[in-house]
Amino acid sequence: MGVIINGREISKKIRLSLKNKVIELNKKGKSVTLAVLLVGDDPASKLYVKNKRKACEELGIVSKEYLLPYSTSEKEIICLIQKLNNDNKIDGILVQLPLPNHINTKKIVDLISVEKDVDAFCKHNVGSLFTKDYKFLPCTPSGILEILKYENIDLKGKHCVILGRSNIVGKPLALLLLENDATVTICHSKTNNLKDICKTADIIIAAVGSPKFLTKDMVKEGAVIIDVGINRDKFGKICGDVDFENLKDKASYITPVPGGVGPMTVTMLMKNVILAAEKV
Ligand code: GUN
Repeated sequence: MGVIINGREISKKIRLSLKNKVIELNKKGKSVTLAVLLVGDDPASKLYVKNKRKACEELGIVSKEYLLPYSTSEKEIICLIQKLNNDNKIDGILVQLPLPNHINTKKIVDLISVEKDVDAFCKHNVGSLFTKDYKFLPCTPSGILEILKYENIDLKGKHCVILGRSNIVGKPLALLLLENDATVTICHSKTNNLKDICKTADIIIAAVGSPKFLTKDMVKEGAVIIDVGINRDKFGKICGDVDFENLKDKASYITPVPGGVGPMTVTMLMKNVILAAEKV
């Protein structure tokens, strides 16, 4: 039986030190404030926003939520972000994605001030991953790195296979793994011989958004499996991109869903908000 990685436990330890940082800032008369914009009422997005609010409360971070109707115009969102960019009391700005179809997501994300872009989604912050002069790391990839570090899983020379090429997870994660001396393969929906590639992986990170996509026959004995997916199975139960039940005995380490990568993503967001407030 492999080690079932407890993302909640790792998060708890990191959050303890983050809480102390907030206390230090508060002592200096500085409050730490995150502005969260949610447009529309997508249930998954509402749940993510709720989890972020709870984490803020836990750490003493002020969370200012802007819950806007689906019909909000692009212009209104632009005005709000400009206002938040210019507000000294706001340290971080997060626009929950996806935005409604009538809004140009790229335009909105790139409008967030580089110093307040705690998701690290704007083009400047994305570019800084390439040039290695970043201040903020994207939350899910950095959460995954923290998990691997915590479990003392060495990346040097290891073959990491990433399933999914999104801008939020797959692409930035590949860069971070490379920086840690891993050999990286990114697979996607058009990849040939996917199973053969996965079978050569020492570490597999699944971020495809398809329930139980990664199955036992695709993985070599003793591989490390990191599951980024949050889906619902045919019974409506939350599950990841990994067939956890059938893989937990074959993997050396595996993250569950829920309770694996998810809490780490939120914790890394909190870390970025504090970094923004420290203005270092
Ligand atoms: N939607 C899904 N994941 C994320 C995330 O990490 N940040 C934001 N802002 N929206 C998301």
